[in-house]
This record gives sequence, structure tokens and C-alpha cells, in this order.
Amino acid sequence: MNQQTPTFPQEIRWESSDTSRVPFQIYTDESNHRKELERLFYRKHWCYVGLEAEIPNAGDFKRTVVGERSVIMVRDAEGGINVIENVCAHRGMQFCRERSGNRKELVCPYHQWNYTLKGDLQGVPFRRGVKQDGKVNGGMPADFKTSDHNLNKLKVATRGGVVFASFDHEIESLEDFLGPEILGYFDRLFNGRKLTILGYNRQRIPGNWKLMQENIKDPYHPGLLHTWFVTFGLWRADNKSELKMDLHHRHAAMISTRGQAGKADQVTQVSSFKESMSLEDPRFLDIVPEDWWKGPTAVMMTVFPSVIFQQQVNSVSTRHIQPSGNGSFDFVWTHFGFEDDSQEMTQRRLRQANLFGPAGFVSADDGEVIEFSQQGFEQKPFHRALAELGGRGVENTDHMVTETLIRGMYRYWRETMEASD
Ligand code: FES
Ligand SMILES: [Fe+2]
Repeated sequence: MNQQTPTFPQEIRWESSDTSRVPFQIYTDESNHRKELERLFYRKHWCYVGLEAEIPNAGDFKRTVVGERSVIMVRDAEGGINVIENVCAHRGMQFCRERSGNRKELVCPYHQWNYTLKGDLQGVPFRRGVKQDGKVNGGMPADFKTSDHNLNKLKVATRGGVVFASFDHEIESLEDFLGPEILGYFDRLFNGRKLTILGYNRQRIPGNWKLMQENIKDPYHPGLLHTWFVTFGLWRADNKSELKMDLHHRHAAMISTRGQAGKADQVTQVSSFKESMSLEDPRFLDIVPEDWWKGPTAVMMTVFPSVIFQQQVNSVSTRHIQPSGNGSFDFVWTHFGFEDDSQEMTQRRLRQANLFGPAGFVSADDGEVIEFSQQGFEQKPFHRALAELGGRGVENTDHMVTETLIRGMYRYWRETMEASD
């Protein structure tokens, strides 16, 4: 018998020209993952790195990632924000080990090369050699110039206190990248008020990073998977709602208004699905409408590929997607508030944050379904997922009974990944 070892093609095979059937292979194939990092994270895309409020003072820094590359977001003496790749210009060590801190300069411990907070090389030990018995030993060659060996500097864009960076210096502006509609929702949340950092959650989810983008582009599941949402009346399929995308269909906003349009006081009326269930501490749902909402009680924004901006009633957070191989990613939540919040509002935001994060009343469910989805994909990578709710096309809608945002993201994914360059 002619036995052949089965090989899985590198080429991703879609069943049709649309994106209503998504091949499992795009979650399981390692070479596809590396291509995604190049095309979606390192070129032509702004990636989220943090909030300005995380580094308020000169010398403050935070270590984070763009895709799978370690970077440092640091504020310099002039107040500017720099994002620098965490790889020493000497022998390549990933020199910054702390998650955050304050430094006057950046020093690599291996041979003590030191850099300014802008990433410029300023000092090299033994550069001019070491004098011994009237003779100079070693040292760098005469033509060695520190300016040739700065750290790799990323292009930086900030807006409303949010910091984005890109390895691609030819990239379009952040505003063009987001497009006018998504930018409008971005500015609604980050409208120039100073932000305050309330805390972090970190979790490693054993699933492909795209599944998190899909999860927040999927209004099909919340009323079905998240029993907590439904039981305590935060999500109903008949909420007034809209789904919007940018022109490329890569970013999206799921906008919903609890209760009657415009009547924000309806928000606080908890109509329980299971009447017998009640909260031990009702303050988890002590919702107070805020002026800046301008109507919607929840707006979940996916900015492709790296971040989700969340407003769920009074809880606001950024959720940073940090890939780690094709089958895993770190998910980092930054819960924030606004400088003009009262003490009560800060407490309220913190209490409502219990819905989210790795052990959140709601979000714990999402971490699990993503893990179990990846397990299904690994089991039969030749198969495909179905995203046909609401049809096979891609369009903005005024309801939530559709998977159009997922189809939209994969239409963009195909355009970008299948392009010849
Ligand atoms: S590797 Fe950084 S100083 Fe040598
Ligand atoms: Fe969810």
C-alpha cells in the first residue's frame, strides 16, 4: 500500500469567495501566524501600547508588546512619549525586564550600554579602550559612531490619552486608520478628559488571538452564553442596537442602548429573567447614567488587530490582545476612570469591573469558549466554522442578530493576507 504522510498545505483554503465559512487552519497554522504578525501587526497597522496616564512623569516607563515584539513606552524629560523596541543595539539582549518603573536613562545590564529616554545611544563602556602600562588596549574602531546604534524607535500616535505605535514609519495617520465613524466612538470615550488608572487584569488564554476580536464582534452569543447578563437584565436581544464598521471592515463598534431609546433611567431597572435570583450585593448594578454616553449604555469597540475599548455602563477599560504563538495570547485589561470622577463614581467603576477580567461574572465565559474553540480547531484543522447569521454579506446593521462583523473582519483579513506583496 502506498502510504503517504498527510501534509497540511501552507495555503489557506476558503470554501467560497465570501467569508461566511472560516477555515480552522487560520487558527492552527504556525506559518500563517507568522505572516499575520508581519502583515497585521508590524506593517500598516497602528497597535495599542497603553494610556498616557500610566506614565505621567518624566522617566516613567511601561514594558509591553506590539504583536510579539517587546517594546518600552517611556516619557522623556520634555514630556514626549517614545515607544522603543526592547532589543539592545549591542548584542541584542531584551534588556528591560521590569513591567514598569522610572529611569533617568535606559541601561542594558549585559555590557552597560546606555540610552536616553528617546532611545539614543549615549554611552559605551571601554569605547576608547583601556589604558595599561602606557598602552591603550581595545576599544571601538575609530569610525564607531554612537548615532549609528540607537534603539529601534517606533512611530507613535496619541489621541485622547491613548498611545498607539507602529514599526511602519510609512503608515497613514491614526485618524485615517480608524476612519471617521469609529473615530467618533473613540472620541466619545476618550474626549480629552484626563484618565486615571484603576487597575489591571492579566490572563493567558489558550486560543488564537483572532478569537478575541471575533468574540467582541459577535452579538449572537452574549444573550445566550452569558447567563449573568441576561439574569440581571444587562443584555437583551431586543435592546436598541447598531453595528458599525470602518470602510475596510477591520474595526467595529457594537452599540446598544438598554431600555427605551433616550430614557437613560431605564438602565437601572433590573428586570430579572430568573426572578428568584438576586445579587447578594446589588451595588454591582448601581448604574448611574453619564452625560458623555450621549444615549448608548454600552459601546464595545474592536480596533484591529490589537485592542478592544470597552464601555459597559459605568465600567470602562482597554483590553490589549498580545499574541503568543498561533494557539495562545495574553489578554491585558486596563480599567480606568476619569480625573473628574467623584469618589462614589470611582467605587462604582471598580465594582462594575467585577463583571470583567479573567474571573469576571461575564468575561470568564468568553475565556473558556475561546479555549474550547481552539481545541475544536486543533482536532480537525481541515474543517471550517460557520458565520452565516444574518446572511453571507458584510454591512452595517440596526440590529444584533447577525455575524456580519466577523464576516467583515475576515473579508479584510483575506484582502490583506492574500495580497501579493
Ligand atoms: S547586549 Fe546590551 S550592552 Fe551588550
Ligand atoms: Fe462575551
